[in-house]
Amino acid sequence: MSYYVTTPIYYVNDAPHIGHGYTTVMGDIITRWHRQRGEDVWYLTGTDEHGQKVLRKAEQNGVSPQEWVDRLVEDEWKPVLAKLDIANDDFIRTTDPRHEAGAQAFWTDVHERGEVYKGSFSGWYSVGSEEFVAEDDVTDGEGDDEGHKVSALDGSRLEHMTEENYFFPLSAYRDRLLELYRERPDFIQPASARNEIISFVERGLRDLSISRSTFDWGIPLPWDPSHVMYVWIEALLNYVTAAGYGVDDEQFERLWPADVHIVGKDIARFHAVIWPAMLMAAGRPVPHRVFAHGWLLVGGQKMSKSKANGIRPDELVDVFGSDAYRYYFARALTFGADGSISWEDIRARYHAELANGFGNLASRVSGMIGKYFGGELPAAGALDAAEETFVATVAEATTAADGAMDQLAPQDALTQVWRIVDDLNGYLTEQAPWQVAKDDAQRERLATILATAAEGLRVLAVLLNPVMPKACASLWESLGAEPTLGALADQRIADAATWGQLAPGSTITKVPSLFPRIEEEKPE
Ligand code: ME8
Ligand code: MG
Repeated sequence: MSYYVTTPIYYVNDAPHIGHGYTTVMGDIITRWHRQRGEDVWYLTGTDEHGQKVLRKAEQNGVSPQEWVDRLVEDEWKPVLAKLDIANDDFIRTTDPRHEAGAQAFWTDVHERGEVYKGSFSGWYSVGSEEFVAEDDVTDGEGDDEGHKVSALDGSRLEHMTEENYFFPLSAYRDRLLELYRERPDFIQPASARNEIISFVERGLRDLSISRSTFDWGIPLPWDPSHVMYVWIEALLNYVTAAGYGVDDEQFERLWPADVHIVGKDIARFHAVIWPAMLMAAGRPVPHRVFAHGWLLVGGQKMSKSKANGIRPDELVDVFGSDAYRYYFARALTFGADGSISWEDIRARYHAELANGFGNLASRVSGMIGKYFGGELPAAGALDAAEETFVATVAEATTAADGAMDQLAPQDALTQVWRIVDDLNGYLTEQAPWQVAKDDAQRERLATILATAAEGLRVLAVLLNPVMPKACASLWESLGAEPTLGALADQRIADAATWGQLAPGSTITKVPSLFPRIEEEKPE
């Protein structure tokens, strides 16, 4: 059985900012954890390249839309994945032939099932969010938008349009959707998003215009190529076209339905309302769950490019490193809720939790094994109550962290793992191996303390690897674990707390400074 997780596919009107980085990193942490559970994981991300928003940006830059998207994907979007250490299994572009073919096959099928009709549309459209906006959600703009209508949903500017279009009878799916939410309470999470979606659908749905005929940057409708698909009803299909829909049945059967679509709450409606209705119309199973996370707030405001408070991932990664970046977003925010981030907070957590908490622990323990045992891991003698307590905490924390990951709560998983970091630091302070080392008669006791601490580090390397793969690779190397235990990525979460895995006699080298102090001040 596979574990198939997706991120939204991002618009390539601009370069990525840390909001995009956030979703992608969280999905990466969750999928790396599941890989270490031994599951058959498939992690998909990609880019949304059609539609007016991207087209206009290309026009503003005086290049063809194809040139524009090729340039942005290669120069901006793919490099950020490497920068953030993302281990995605696939990257789909909506200009990929496989996507274009799959999207046409899907809508041909829905059309043949009689689920498409021709009509005319007259109403408001937001190019910024590529969304039709109902009269109830249209308001007068202020400031820069003075004299224009804006969307009450996200403040984006609206344009009035009148077009002959094809429609999908979304309104007919109201009851089936409500039944889906009722039967499968975790289809849309967290509860705040679920409640919002249910009340939205209860108020009644409007049929959806699924085509546009005033521009041609999109995928032609198979039965009427003078229209291109409305970008959303095409983009959502990436989740099935990447999984092999229409071209690789075996892969499609293995992956679909997806386990989790991770999205920001701005696009929860598309994923929890339109998307399942489309799949129902095609007679295909709907995804297991849609998880809508909250906003990154900067200075109390939703971070976005248009507000000019958009921060590029490099600005943080170049200072703190990719591990600390990943750790920060997973630890400091509650996945599913809005959360404020700041340079000061990243810096403070970096020093307190990573440099002093985890990094220093790793270098002290490995340093002492070097100093007192010539870098050879000693065999532990009999365990005292202090060791028994620590071993029990490790087992408990590991189980709890695994449970938290099931709930898509990486912040809680990290809180559990940090019990191990804190307890091990406390254990060393209490046992004071540097004192014990002064008494030759206590050699075995010294060995027990340091072997226990080394085992603690082993567990931390395994449990933190999904979050901080670079630091953990370095720790694994220093623990001399690979020759006897194998690659770090092959260490299973379920076995992590099993005690005494490092082989006595293993060569321990001093862990390099994993999180060097940062002197740099916040850039202007
Ligand atoms: O909506 N805080 O693409 P998009 C947290 N192409 N997450 C944020 C964020 C913020 N301030 N800003 C952006 C689209 N995000 C469509 C999706 S899917 C079939 C098509 C993240 O480039 C968050 O995941 O506007 C949000 O949902 C996504 O970027 C929107 O990216
Ligand atoms: Mg958006």
